[in-house]
Amino acid sequence: MELNYEIITDEEIENCRDLCNELMAFQKSKAHITPELFDHMNFDTRMVPSVKNAIHNYIVIVKDGEKIIAYVYSNVSPKEVYSNSFTTFFDLTSVRKKNVGCLSQFYIKYEYRQCGIGSKLFNMSMDWLKQFDDVEDHFIFVSNGNDNALEFYQRKGFSVSHD
Ligand SMILES: CC(C)(COP(=O)(O)OP(=O)(O)OC[C@H]1O[C@@H](n2cnc3c(N)ncnc32)[C@H](O)[C@@H]1OP(=O)(O)O)[C@@H](O)C(=O)NCCC(=O)NCCS
Repeated sequence: MELNYEIITDEEIENCRDLCNELMAFQKSKAHITPELFDHMNFDTRMVPSVKNAIHNYIVIVKDGEKIIAYVYSNVSPKEVYSNSFTTFFDLTSVRKKNVGCLSQFYIKYEYRQCGIGSKLFNMSMDWLKQFDDVEDHFIFVSNGNDNALEFYQRKGFSVSHD
């Protein structure tokens, strides 16, 4: 297995379409609270607007030969992006600075999990987020029922701020 890690530009996000759609279906399969909300979530409704609205984006894809087998997407956005009618992501007053960092989407194809790819992509994303001196808060939003991911992030040092 020869894996290549590639940082891609905002213009190249089409590379993430299939895996982003797999991620949404995966999250729906795990969810026990309103799983139907995922029916409207896909590459066009989630990743495209998110990349457009963020101030900075960082997207890494992993290729096994020509096949894309994983991606991670992080961004820096104004905190108000997370205040909307869909849900309360976090208490805006708990964040002092104007912008927040977020590891927003993360997906490794099933047969490639548990061999360190996720940890490498996680570390790359954290290193990228840490360069922004004006960003104090880093969030990861884990959908309900995805306990494996929640535990993965907790082992990496994240803590639960709210349900
Ligand atoms: C969550 C996810 C990104 C983690 O990626 P991953 O590639 O499986 O992660 P890693 O392989 O780095 O780490 C997983 C475990 O494998 C272990 N591991 C790492 N390298 C290993 C190796 N060479 N051999 C055996 N085990 C290894 C790690 O120690 C880790 O154990 P831990 O979780 O108990 O600490 C991945 O499971 C995934 O894509 N899940 C589905 C989508 C999802 O839930 N996304 C998150 C949305 S918020």
